[in-house]
Amino acid sequence: MNRLYIETYGCQMNFADSEVVCSIMNEHGYNLVNDIHDADVVFINTCSIRENAENKIFNRLKEITSLKKKNHSLVVGILGCMAERMKDELIAKADVVDLIVGPDAYRNIPNLIEELNFNSKAINTQLSLEETYSDIQPVRIDSNGVTAFISITRGCENYCTYCVVPYTRGRERSRDPKSIIAEAKDLFDKGYREVTLLGQNVNSYKWVETTENGEDKTFGFSYLMEQVALVSPLLRVRFATSHPKDLSDELLNIIAKYDNICKFIHLPLQSGSSSMLARMNRKYDQEKYLNRIEAIKRIIPDCSIGTDIIAGFSGETEEEHQETLKVMNIVEYDYAYMFKYSERPGTFASKHLPDDVPEDVKGKRLTEIIELQQELSLRSNKKDIGKTFEVLVEGKSKRNDNEYFGRNSQNKVLVFPASENLRGKYIKVKVKSCTAATLIGELEE
Ligand code: 5AD
Ligand code: SF4
Repeated sequence: MNRLYIETYGCQMNFADSEVVCSIMNEHGYNLVNDIHDADVVFINTCSIRENAENKIFNRLKEITSLKKKNHSLVVGILGCMAERMKDELIAKADVVDLIVGPDAYRNIPNLIEELNFNSKAINTQLSLEETYSDIQPVRIDSNGVTAFISITRGCENYCTYCVVPYTRGRERSRDPKSIIAEAKDLFDKGYREVTLLGQNVNSYKWVETTENGEDKTFGFSYLMEQVALVSPLLRVRFATSHPKDLSDELLNIIAKYDNICKFIHLPLQSGSSSMLARMNRKYDQEKYLNRIEAIKRIIPDCSIGTDIIAGFSGETEEEHQETLKVMNIVEYDYAYMFKYSERPGTFASKHLPDDVPEDVKGKRLTEIIELQQELSLRSNKKDIGKTFEVLVEGKSKRNDNEYFGRNSQNKVLVFPASENLRGKYIKVKVKSCTAATLIGELEE
């Protein structure tokens, strides 16, 4: 009765959380299995960011219901954002679910499983002001042994009007820098060569410590980045996600200073229109956003830039949509995640800002955004043809057995032929051709 299977949906933070859950379960005698059919306990770590993310989980639960019909003792747990947001619906409608556990209650899972001996369902969706799981050493799941996530903050208090995260993940808190640096060192010693520091808004990372003479000393994100970069020049450091309202020049200077801090910044735009950004409560306008882009390009000239964009939020006019396309053209993003607005119950927008852009208009605008980004990504990749990059090899290409893939500092994926196993090695690759998504190259002698 101790075989565990975990399925994870949503953001990188969820994947990092599943690794914490796996560690907690290991401590209590559970072993991870790769096939759901071999499991005694199945966890689904869920995402609530858009309605279709939640629908996907409900469909998956239908499939798991048929598994449970064959194996009545199977324990099924819903973890993460949907557990937090949809506890009541899950209790009422999803018979198959035994456990419902929110993002701050994972330490409690083994006790909750015990409770199932007495109750038909066990639930803990208590959010916390302190929990950072800082003492738990995550068990790396599906690891390539080269790249790993380290979570550094939890929760979000920005309250963008469209976003459910502040309600599902609770208040913002930072993790002790000592535990973060120790985790990075440990990963490096185990052969990992890249860590991504994770938080909903890493720029607001803040740790306060009282010194011996009673003074408070504050450690911010720039300090943390530098300390992690100093673990070894052979350890690459990435981070996600930055909020444009507080991306500082101090941080940009640290990124520029260390070769092993990757030259890639994910800076969600959401919308290019200042009036729309005000409705979204993003706390910056077009001018301030472009000022940050200008600072990135000035301080880190070889930096690539990614973004998130939402099409069709409340009241979006054609002019506001055009502003988004305009900013995309000015920034020339290398990469973007693009979404149709999906109203989320409980958010400020769901109460005060009607979801009034017709579905076909949302679709048309999203298509325009995606088509423009395809052009920008292709243009950006074409500029790299003929250049040679240092690539950290992550593994064999899925499509071709004779090819390997890895990333350059700019987070672009490079694919190249190689006859020996290069996983975990730094190598030089010269770019010969490209698509909008990939650079195709050859090993340089
Ligand atoms: N609808 C569509 N996209 C959303 N995002 C957040 N909330 C919503 C929503 N309600 C997007 C934002 C965010 C990314 C993680 O998901 O672009 O940056
Ligand atoms: Fe959501 Fe805004 Fe927080 Fe990002 S910063 S998680 S979009 S509320």
